[in-house]
Amino acid sequence: MKILVTGGAGYIGSHVCKALAAKGFEPVVYDNLSRGNRWVVKWGPLEEGDIADVARVRAVLDRHRPTAVMHFAAFAYVGESVREPLFYYRNNIGGTTALLQALIDYGPLPFVFSSTCSTYGIPQTIPIPEDHPQNPINPYGFSKMVVERMLADLDLTYGMRSVSLRYFNAAGADPEGEIGEAHNPETHLIPLVLAAARDGTPVDVFGADYDTPDGTCIRDYIHVSDIAGAHLLALDYLLKGGASCALNLANARGYSVKEVVGAAERVCNRSIWVKIASRRDGDPPILIGLAERAQALLGWRPARSALESQIADAWNWMMKDRK
Ligand SMILES: NC(=O)c1ccc[n+]([C@@H]2O[C@H](COP(=O)([O-])OP(=O)(O)OC[C@H]3O[C@@H](n4cnc5c(N)ncnc54)[C@H](O)[C@@H]3O)[C@@H](O)[C@H]2O)c1
Repeated sequence: MKILVTGGAGYIGSHVCKALAAKGFEPVVYDNLSRGNRWVVKWGPLEEGDIADVARVRAVLDRHRPTAVMHFAAFAYVGESVREPLFYYRNNIGGTTALLQALIDYGPLPFVFSSTCSTYGIPQTIPIPEDHPQNPINPYGFSKMVVERMLADLDLTYGMRSVSLRYFNAAGADPEGEIGEAHNPETHLIPLVLAAARDGTPVDVFGADYDTPDGTCIRDYIHVSDIAGAHLLALDYLLKGGASCALNLANARGYSVKEVVGAAERVCNRSIWVKIASRRDGDPPILIGLAERAQALLGWRPARSALESQIADAWNWMMKDRK
């Protein structure tokens, strides 16, 4: 069975491709390589193309006749989205609209969508359940919320079933060290902290005056392999006729930026040089998620949730020679 994986040359998509192949699926990666890497596409063909190109998506659907679609392709940086909102709306909403148009023209398929905790905005309750109001405070989160809404509408009109997975902060790397996080430039905390440990350079901490115990932002880190496992379960759920839903992927446990730096110092056995910088626009102080719905509906349980094992996998991968 083939699965069309948009954004499969990126960080999370590539880990999901590996997990799909391990279960006997053939991932067909559809990616424009704007932010991904050709060398991580190892478990099936790469079809280069933009999700905004309806004719190209349609041709790829006709050629491969996939059983389902997993949609990772998007821009995914909060700060960048605040600086360049239209860039985000064009790619994440406009691009996804075109992709969905091609899919509806072809014939609706089960659809797994990469959503985010950024759709919640500043939480009113911690940990955040799925029925918490979605009031995003940055264009990135808003763009993802709009796509969730589009998917709900497509279910009503065309019966296209989907699972939106609202990830909290993806971290770690393939435990076998074959792939990992390779963004350029990198903006995610753990790889930046580890690069600082490796190079002896400072890492910027954006804001130490938040209303949190140590003044730095608190996030819920979730291992990329656990995210990949949830995609396999969501696919199985949809293939068995499961109804559309939106589910958090989280550990219900948050760590501050300073705690992440401390954990990285222990894992790497090096001290890390921290520079306090001003706050970044669009960052809520605390994001911690409740994932009981994913446990109940999919039977999902994170297996590599300890922060130090997430950091250790990322560190092992970072210290290996890269292609
Ligand atoms: N990394 C996280 O912590 C996190 C958290 C929540 C949600 N997400 C979501 O998960 C998905 C994957 O995130 P990631 O960290 O792997 O990002 P990534 O940037 O590593 O991967 C995204 C991939 O999509 C491709 N892409 C972007 N726009 C495209 C387009 N118009 N056409 C074709 N391909 C395109 C890029 O080239 C890249 O390979 C994104 O949708 C992101 O919003 C990520």
